[in-house]
Amino acid sequence: MSVLIIGASGFVGGELMNAFGRAAVGTYHRTATDGLQQLDITDPDAVEALVDRVQPTLIVHPAAQPNVERCETEPDESYAVNVVGTANVARAARRIGARFVYFSTDYLFDGTAGPYAPDAVPKPIQTYGRHKLEAEQAVRDLLDNHLIVRICGVYGYHPTGKNFIMGLIGRARRGEPMQVPADQWGTPTFVSSLAEAVRELAYSTHTGAVHPVGPDYLSRIAFAETAAELLGFDPGFLEPRTSEQLRQHAQRPLKGGVDNRSTQAMLTTRLASVREGLAIVRRQMDADATA
Ligand SMILES: NC(=O)c1ccc[n+]([C@@H]2O[C@H](COP(=O)([O-])OP(=O)(O)OC[C@H]3O[C@@H](n4cnc5c(N)ncnc54)[C@H](OP(=O)(O)O)[C@@H]3O)[C@@H](O)[C@H]2O)c1
Repeated sequence: MSVLIIGASGFVGGELMNAFGRAAVGTYHRTATDGLQQLDITDPDAVEALVDRVQPTLIVHPAAQPNVERCETEPDESYAVNVVGTANVARAARRIGARFVYFSTDYLFDGTAGPYAPDAVPKPIQTYGRHKLEAEQAVRDLLDNHLIVRICGVYGYHPTGKNFIMGLIGRARRGEPMQVPADQWGTPTFVSSLAEAVRELAYSTHTGAVHPVGPDYLSRIAFAETAAELLGFDPGFLEPRTSEQLRQHAQRPLKGGVDNRSTQAMLTTRLASVREGLAIVRRQMDADATA
């Protein structure tokens, strides 16, 4: 099977490149990366030309504008990348009969009743979630052979990455306070077990929505406090705040997150718990410090 990973220069896409190994060709958009090919998914001709060249049997598509605040203030950009860009890639997959794996989010849901099962009814409350839902619908309309991978709060050790845990490590080391929402709940997901699970699901015959997230359901502040403890930092720099106090542009689901149980039952890969994932982050962080 030949695999094309769109958005391989990103946090999740980079880990997918590791998981799929030599079977994969990857793309970047602005972050020029050795071994990856440049692609802007908002350009349908460029998408088609690349797909024609690579002739993948599987297209994995984590590329997005995933910045929730930016999507709220720049909705046209969000629409162009998240909706039109995804439809461009899905159309190219349909044309050559490739299986298609699209990355979506727990922000499809309003956060009144999380964690949500794959058949829960979406009700997004901000631009990012509305656009990711519209993209899901485009994928369903265009292709039968698709997987919609909904994820939440992905974390991992990634020296140049921007995920929540890397932000926490940076603040702890610099001795800076970190305001953390105490009323937003989710299902934190360790990036390496996510990538392994997605590889397994992509090579299976499952179709439709799957939730390969971590098994724990907890608030952002509880996750941050557990991370501080397991990574060896005094948690004094963590400052719990309500979402209202944080005055973000985009509304966040409060009881968000997605439920992994039906997806875990399809898999031999075990989705790491918060304590298991953070223990691996600790080993990687310590190894990096002594390198
Ligand atoms: N991380 C999370 O916690 C989380 C949670 C829920 C859902 N998700 C979803 O999971 C997916 C991966 O997220 P991530 O955290 O890995 O995001 P990320 O690190 O920001 O990566 C985004 C990727 O998309 C590429 N990209 C952006 N605009 C593009 C364009 N116009 N054409 C082609 N490629 C473009 C970027 O390329 P360059 O960097 O080279 O420009 C990058 O490779 C997204 O679909 C996101 O919505 C993530």
